[in-house]
Amino acid sequence: MSDTDSTYVRIFDTTLRDGEQSPGISLNAQEKLEIARQLERLGVDIIEAGFAISSPGEVEGIGLVAKHVRGCTIASLNRTQKADIDASWEALQHAERPRFHVFIATSDLHMEHKLRMTPEQVVEQTREAVAYARSKVADVEFSCEDATRSRPEFMAEVVRTALQAGATTINIPDTVGYTTPDEYREILATLYENVPELHEAVLSVHTHNDLGLATANSIAGVQAGARQVEVAVNGIGERAGNSALEEIVMALRTRNALYGFTTGVETREIARTSRLVSRLTGYPVQPNKAIVGKNAFAHEAGIHQDGVLKNRRTYEIMDAESIGLAHNELVLGKHSGRHALQKAYADMGYTVEGDDLKRAFARFKEIADRKKTVSMLDLEALLDDQSRDTAERWVLERLALRTATGETSHADVVVREGDETHAAAAEGDGPIDAAFNALNAIVATPATLREFNVNAVTGGNDALGDARVVLEHEGRTYTGQSVAPDITEAAAEAFLRAAALVAAGIPNPMARESV
Ligand code: KIV
Ligand code: ZN
Repeated sequence: MSDTDSTYVRIFDTTLRDGEQSPGISLNAQEKLEIARQLERLGVDIIEAGFAISSPGEVEGIGLVAKHVRGCTIASLNRTQKADIDASWEALQHAERPRFHVFIATSDLHMEHKLRMTPEQVVEQTREAVAYARSKVADVEFSCEDATRSRPEFMAEVVRTALQAGATTINIPDTVGYTTPDEYREILATLYENVPELHEAVLSVHTHNDLGLATANSIAGVQAGARQVEVAVNGIGERAGNSALEEIVMALRTRNALYGFTTGVETREIARTSRLVSRLTGYPVQPNKAIVGKNAFAHEAGIHQDGVLKNRRTYEIMDAESIGLAHNELVLGKHSGRHALQKAYADMGYTVEGDDLKRAFARFKEIADRKKTVSMLDLEALLDDQSRDTAERWVLERLALRTATGETSHADVVVREGDETHAAAAEGDGPIDAAFNALNAIVATPATLREFNVNAVTGGNDALGDARVVLEHEGRTYTGQSVAPDITEAAAEAFLRAAALVAAGIPNPMARESV
């Protein structure tokens, strides 16, 4: 199925732009690339890699994605300013298929109170910015911010102007998650009536989940003629989030007989993409989240279990395998060799060679010695862990903890720094606090602990712990992450990595201007 087919719906993924605008998320360039590579494997059509003007780190991240991800169109967001478009061009110049995404608000509320511009000025800026963008690339998307609260006649005038200036995709966002499916269908039908030439371009929908209607609204948009849907993995994004990629794709697939639309997504990559995005953003997926929540395919009530055992279709409308969940079997044990590890990664779709393979094998051996079975989920977490752009100045050699209910905890640590080893001991309010205090006696970071969380990579008593530590120093944040069989060890390593980033002066990208 190709994008010239009238039933084909393009998936425009904005995990790395709108998704990354979620409070507390800040991906560095390497992390953006890792997610973009997985989105390419997933088969999305367009990756919105960021908002170039927001920071030099953002230009670097978008640039890295543009250089290395060849299978998708790569987009960067812009206000109607030349400087924005120039920054996007700097970031996208090496993309095989670059797209500029230009937006301006069209509701009276936004024009008057946010932009402080007249409607005439908005029309004029639209014309100039879209024409300028088209002078650089052939693929230009234009969005009317707060479209669903805009006057239909005025929005039609702006859309007409954008099309005349060369826009090839027109996006009608429900910026504040306010519309409903019936109303959205109506807004889009009216727009088509007012601007018949819109049929020559691609109509796009972009919805937010403030009322829990994002997915339903996007599908209503597709029914009204949209052939591009803007989504984020796990539904992350501003406030209550964006329409979730996995929900749109699986709704169109599961109810294909009803809707008759297709996408180019390889659905068996959905679960893995969800896990990667959750791990790198630090945003857990709620257990009952549609499609990718850990309970989405679990059956608790006896009567349901009985039905499923007799025939899965009694209570399951999709099978777990279709989103790539059934692949979590045991793959390797402690006697497996380097070739077996490389082959397991290859079967999972990863090419791991040379020094990367050496490092991965060393990490695998460490884990396999202590964990009975090593599953695909474990291998995936180890790969993310070692490919992270973290400074390894301090390496945890030993961590011993003494802790009992109601008593102060005690930690002894040994840390290697190059050829030297340092030892320290400290007490704390619980084992993690004691460990961090002892480590800090060695690394003496001036930063304060802002966030700490730990998740189990798989179920079971011997699950790997995936820890994330965020330190704050002089208004900047530094994130360390680590995976280990013992959660306190993972936490200690994550702390050391974050402290090393503080010492090296490598903060997370600055919070960017919100759109
Ligand atoms: O929600 C919104 O309106 C946006 C636009 C910039 C497309 O994210
Ligand atoms: Zn948005």
